[in-house]
Amino acid sequence: MADFVGAIDQGTTSTRFMIFDHGGNEVGRHQLEHQQILPRSGWVEHNPLEIWERTQTVVRTALNTHSLDATDLAALGVTNQRETTVVWNRRTGRPYHNAIVWQDTRTDRIASALERDGRGAVIRRRAGVPPATYFSAGKIQWILENVDGVRAAAERGEAVFGNTDTWLLWHLTGGVDGGAHVTDPTNASRTMLMDLETLDWDDELLSFFDIPRAMLPQIVPSSDPHAYGTTLPNGPFAGAVRITGDLGDQQAATVGQVCFAPGEAKNTYGTGNFMLLNTGTEIVRSEAGLLTTVCYQFAGEAPVYALEGSIAVTGSAVQWLRDQIKIISSAAQSEDLARQVDDNGGVYFVPAFSGLFAPYWRADARGAIVGLSRYHTDGHIARATLEAICYQSRDVAEAMAQDSGVTLECLKVDGGVTVNDLCMQLQADILGVPVSRPVVAETTALGAAYAAGLAVGFWKDTDELRDNWNESRRWQPSWSPQERASGYANWRKAVRRTLDWVD
Ligand code: G3P
Repeated sequence: MADFVGAIDQGTTSTRFMIFDHGGNEVGRHQLEHQQILPRSGWVEHNPLEIWERTQTVVRTALNTHSLDATDLAALGVTNQRETTVVWNRRTGRPYHNAIVWQDTRTDRIASALERDGRGAVIRRRAGVPPATYFSAGKIQWILENVDGVRAAAERGEAVFGNTDTWLLWHLTGGVDGGAHVTDPTNASRTMLMDLETLDWDDELLSFFDIPRAMLPQIVPSSDPHAYGTTLPNGPFAGAVRITGDLGDQQAATVGQVCFAPGEAKNTYGTGNFMLLNTGTEIVRSEAGLLTTVCYQFAGEAPVYALEGSIAVTGSAVQWLRDQIKIISSAAQSEDLARQVDDNGGVYFVPAFSGLFAPYWRADARGAIVGLSRYHTDGHIARATLEAICYQSRDVAEAMAQDSGVTLECLKVDGGVTVNDLCMQLQADILGVPVSRPVVAETTALGAAYAAGLAVGFWKDTDELRDNWNESRRWQPSWSPQERASGYANWRKAVRRTLDWVD
């Protein structure tokens, strides 16, 4: 068997290709950003053709740089930004519209109408998620209603839908010459269209959005030796690599963090934060504002579910300090600036830029910085921004404890923001539990590689993967219980100030 497994990670801001060895160590990578298209306030789009073009470049460059080729790869996994919606013509390969990104709020009317007339309750029950602009179905409906010719083409089975995993898998396996139109249950569970119990598209949910079933990809296991096909000699791999894994990026990170047992959780710090708690084969319905989602499904095995707390704005609040109000010139500087003050000085920043996601699900919220006096400096704002990342994660952790009865003993973390030492220390202080970061911080790509490698026997079982996990750093809580309690009470007060802002 070949020595390595490859993984394509198609994320919100960039696409990377990574190569791992049997120990789960990184052997090589290449990464490229793509354009964030912001046509108006609240709208966020990507160009699907640019994403496919970048994907080909990162694959070719990583392979060339490390003098590897298709024969060195035992398998390929794909992972992706979830919910982001592409609709394209399967005969021409042309997208009908830019991809509508998960952060895009143009479908707020669609979402609030569902909530008002009771269909929201059906969506919650069957799909495990509240009706919200976040998920794919409203975005598909918007394209069907606003782009000429799409509905008729969809009814003929010519206009098809996919998240970016499906879009790339289709291209990698042949595109207009018969590419596979497939996805996995983790991605499908983010559409509002899949029944969590049957793992199939649900006709009643499809009818809520008037989406023809012929548009939708086939749902196949997240790790499967046969369901996805192989890459083509005329594609970026210049040879046949078996594609055997596909997972939404947050579920992939959960696999990469080897959270295979019920009660194990991870928190990923990117543009947003996503905390997932493995609940095993049991579907736990949230009463506290979390999502019920598929964690992974390996071929021949029962699906494993998770509770998820999705937070829209965390790392992107640091980007806002850098790009919009310009008090730092790099994300890393947020730590230096925040260290100039001893504490937040009573300042709280709630970055509700796209409303609030979990556990609040309030589209009417908008951001606020509260508690200011003339004494405060840019250091306090930086500190409050880092604390906001951690307080939002505490909100989600509280909801998880409420829904599952599981209280965290240690939080496994990964993602870009985890290089910020102060932020991780604050996370331990605000949660009151240790925070632990693994040696391989690229857990998303690693998880997709694990799913692919398990399917072909590159890794024998999940125990072998557990042995690959090693801690690089642990932060212990240092605040007193009183300090923790009063800080959190103030945060909740600040959150209340942001609600009901937009009519
Ligand atoms: O649900 C959205 C999430 O999948 C996006 O993740 O890492 O691409 O920002 P990321």
